[in-house]
Parts: sequence; structure tokens; C-alpha cells
Amino acid sequence: MVDYKSLGLVNTREMFKRAINGGYAIPAFNFNNMEQLQAIIKATSELKSPVILQVSKGARAYANETLLRYMAQGAVEYAKELGNKHPEIALHLDHGDTFETCKSCIDYGFSSVMIDGSHLPYDENVALTKKVVEYAHQFDVTVEGELGVLAGVEDDVVAAESHYTRPEEVIDFVTKTGVDSLAISIGTSHGAYKFTPEQCTRDPKTGLLVPPPLAFDILDAIMEKLPGFPIVLHGSSSVPQEYVKIINENGGKLPDAVGIPEEQLRKAAKSAVCKINIDSDSRLAFTAAVRKVFAENPGEFDPRKYCGPARDLMTELYEHKVKNVLGSDFKLAQID
Ligand code: G3H
Ligand code: 13P
Ligand code: ZN
Repeated sequence: MVDYKSLGLVNTREMFKRAINGGYAIPAFNFNNMEQLQAIIKATSELKSPVILQVSKGARAYANETLLRYMAQGAVEYAKELGNKHPEIALHLDHGDTFETCKSCIDYGFSSVMIDGSHLPYDENVALTKKVVEYAHQFDVTVEGELGVLAGVEDDVVAAESHYTRPEEVIDFVTKTGVDSLAISIGTSHGAYKFTPEQCTRDPKTGLLVPPPLAFDILDAIMEKLPGFPIVLHGSSSVPQEYVKIINENGGKLPDAVGIPEEQLRKAAKSAVCKINIDSDSRLAFTAAVRKVFAENPGEFDPRKYCGPARDLMTELYEHKVKNVLGSDFKLAQID
């Protein structure tokens, strides 16, 4: 059993409390490799922001969970080296699918886990989530549950209203399970294609897709039922069109990729939404930078020469998200 506190990590309880009271959201960035982690830590350390490092099932399979955990431990030391004397870094399992996976992460030093039972019948979701909470809380590990289904990795069909979180269920779910935060479905989805062109309108000047707004009425109804309770938004990449353009101009093919407009995420961050998950935007930044290097210099074969620019672009992206979208800059409990 590894105690995450001995690794210098923190759970999400205090950071969420402050985020809700302060009207901002904590960035939850996924990482799979060293360059992503370096960029996340550099951006959040310089901006003195708390951060949640997310590890998905895919990341564990790709990078090896032992390595990822040591990388997170190293990230705490790296943040200190960058002048951030009191970093607040949570290591979080993203979309945990079984009790065993959650338990293994908790035993291995994760400070927070998500148990995603959103695809299960309601009672089974409650029972599974409760089981994870009971185990996690013995070790002061925080737990995120989910109600409602996002389109994308969680479901093959396009988001429909029937998949949105049902506000009438949230009190019962939170009370019965004891979760520390709740991921909800209000129209976001995973990946770089969050809406079909048919669901959007088109800006006549730029020709770019304009997505429909998120269901803020559902968020409001949930907040009314659970005043001050931490809410999480998955699928919150904005799919920056400047990256899509670089990718498409340099041999890529991402036609009509579209994300959640940043103004809507800013609005959500000011409410009880206190954790915003971003992965795809980082993938797009990485890919755009690498494609550009290869297009401009086909003879390049030193990975540092293309992963370096990718890391720089991701750092810029994370800084922008923290400062201009989530508002978590200079929000560490202790800054000196
Ligand atoms: O929720 C989805 C995240 O973007 C993780 O994606 O399972 O491909 O690592 P992944
Ligand atoms: P995006 O695909 O929008 O980045 O969502 C990431 C996410 O929700 C991770 O859990
Ligand atoms: Zn997600």
C-alpha cells in the first residue's frame, strides 16, 4: 500500500472547495508521455495553479501504470524545482471501469479515482460507486462518480437529450454513494468531433461550424438540487481551429473537427463546475507541432526536434486554459 501523501500528492477535496467558492475550475489534464507531463507541470507551476493529472485505462496500457505513477511523483519534485514550493497535484484515475481497477490505483498511490458506472442501470451504478467510495475513503482518496452518458468513448451514438443527467436523480445518487464529486452530461462529449455538422450552424464569414450551446438549464437544475456540491465536466476540449488548420495544411485530415466554445467553459467554471477535463486539445497541439516540423524538414529524425516544439505548443495551450478559460491561476492554498 502506497500512501499518496508520502509522494507529495493531494486529494481533490480542498481544491474543489476553494474552486467552488472562488468561481473557477481546476484543470484536469490527461497525460500519456513525458512531454505532456512536462508541459502540464511547467504551465501550472508558473501560474501557481492546482492541477489534476489524469491517467486513463488507455494511458495505463500505453505507458505502464508503474511508470506513470513514478512520473507523477517526479512531477511533484519537478514543480518544486520550478519554484513552486507548495504544489497541489492530484493523481487521478480517469474513467475507472471496475472496483478492482480503482482499488489497484488507490493501493498504488493515486489520490483520487473516478468510477464510471454511467453506462450501467442506475441501481448498479449506485452499488458499484458506493463500493469504491467505501474503499477509497478509508485512505482519504476522493472519488468521482458519473450520472448521464456522454456521446463518444462512453457511447457510440450522438448525444441526445435522453443521455443528459437527470436532475431528479442526483440527490439520491450522491447520498447513497457518498461520492466527493459528480460528472454530469450536459452536451459535452469526448474527442475532436463533439457535434455533427448537422447539429451545428455555419459561420457565413469563416465557414467554421458553430456548435449548439451546452444545456445550462440542466446544470442549473443540478446545482439547485445539490448546492455547493462539486460538479465535473468531461469532454471539455475546445478543438482550437488554429491547430486543426495546421494539421490539415500539413498532411492531416480532420475535416469539421469541432469542440466546446471556450466562453461556455468559462461560464461553467464560474459555477459549481470545479473540474474540467481536457485531453483532445493537447493531442491536437502535439500533432500540429509535429506535422509542421516534418512538413518543413522531412529529413528530421531526432525526436527531440519534433517532441520539443510539441511540448512548447502544449505548454502554451495549458497556460491559456488555466489563465483564460478555467481561471485557476494563482489559486494555490500557499503561494511563496
Ligand atoms: O476520456 C477520455 C480521455 O480522453 C482518455 O482517452 O482512453 O484514449 O486515453 P484514452
Ligand atoms: P476531451 O476529449 O474533450 O479532451 O475530454 C477529455 C476527458 O473527458 C477525459 O476524461
Ligand atoms: Zn472523460
